[in-house]
Amino acid sequence: MKKIIIILSSIIVIIFIILMIFLFNTNSKDKDKDIKEVKENETKEEITKEEDNEFSKLSYYKEENLDRYKAYQINNSDLSIEDIVTKVNLNLDKEPYTDTIPSTNLNTNYLLVNKFNYLDSSYIPNNLELLDNSYSKSGIYLVKEAKDNLERLIDQAKNDGMNIRVASAYRSYTYQENLYKNYVKNDGVENADTYSARPGYSEHQTGLVVDVTRAFDDFNNFENTDEYNWMLENAANYGFILRYPKDKEDITTYSFEAWHYRYVGVELAQKIKASNLTFDEYYVRYLESDNN
Ligand code: DAL
Ligand code: ZN
Repeated sequence: MKKIIIILSSIIVIIFIILMIFLFNTNSKDKDKDIKEVKENETKEEITKEEDNEFSKLSYYKEENLDRYKAYQINNSDLSIEDIVTKVNLNLDKEPYTDTIPSTNLNTNYLLVNKFNYLDSSYIPNNLELLDNSYSKSGIYLVKEAKDNLERLIDQAKNDGMNIRVASAYRSYTYQENLYKNYVKNDGVENADTYSARPGYSEHQTGLVVDVTRAFDDFNNFENTDEYNWMLENAANYGFILRYPKDKEDITTYSFEAWHYRYVGVELAQKIKASNLTFDEYYVRYLESDNN
C-alpha cells in the first residue's frame, strides 16, 4: 500500500511540474507578443512624428496649429511648407475678420494691424506730430520718428527731381469708420473690403503709414510715375516699406496699393525689402516670437 501511495504522489508531482512548464511557456510567448506590439506602435509613432517634423523644423512652427497646417496643405498642395506655416499662423486659412485679436506691440515699429489683428477704437499713437504743408496736405499727422524720416525722404527725392507729397497718414478710428461706411455705400461690402480696412483694422490708425502721390495726382496714376520707381528703390533707406505689393493679395488680403508705405525703422525696412516678403510674412517668421 505504501508503495502505491509513493507512486501516485510521484505521478501527481510530475504532472504538476509539466503543467507549470507549460504555463510558463505560454506566459513568456504572450510577453514576447506584447513587446513586439509595443515596438510596432513606437515605430508608428516615430513615423507620425517624422511627418509632423516637416512643419516643426521651422522656427515659427506652432504646435497648436498642427492640424490646421495639415488641413491647409491638403487644399494647397502647391505651397511650400514655409508658406503653409506662415499663412496658417497669419490665420489666412480662416475668413477675414473672424477670430480677431487685439494687436500687440502698441507704439512700436513692430505693430501689426491687418484683418485679424485690430486696434481698439480708443487707440491713439503716442508722439503724433503735424506734417508741414510743404510735405503734405494740411492737417496730416504722423508719429514723430516716422515723420522725421519721411521729411528726409521727401527732401532727398526732391534733390533727385521727384515731387512726392503725402495725401493721407494717421487716421483716427472714427475717420476710418466714416471712410469705410462711404465705400460700402457706394461700392458694396465685398468690393470695399478689397481696398479699405474696416474701422480698427486700418494700419493708418497706427500713425506709421503714409499714402504718397506725385504732386497730389490721383493715387491710381502713381504706379506709372518716376516717383513710384524712386520710392521702390529708396524708401527702405528711410525706414518705409511698400505694404500691399503686387501679387501678394493672397497674403495682405488687399489689392495692390502703389502709394501705401509703412514705417518700420531703417534696419527692419532694409531687411524686409531684401527678403521680398510682406510685413505680415516677415512678422510671423522673424518678429512674432522675439516680441511676444
Ligand atoms: N487702404 C488701406 C488698406 C486702409 O484702408 O487702411
Ligand atoms: Zn493707405
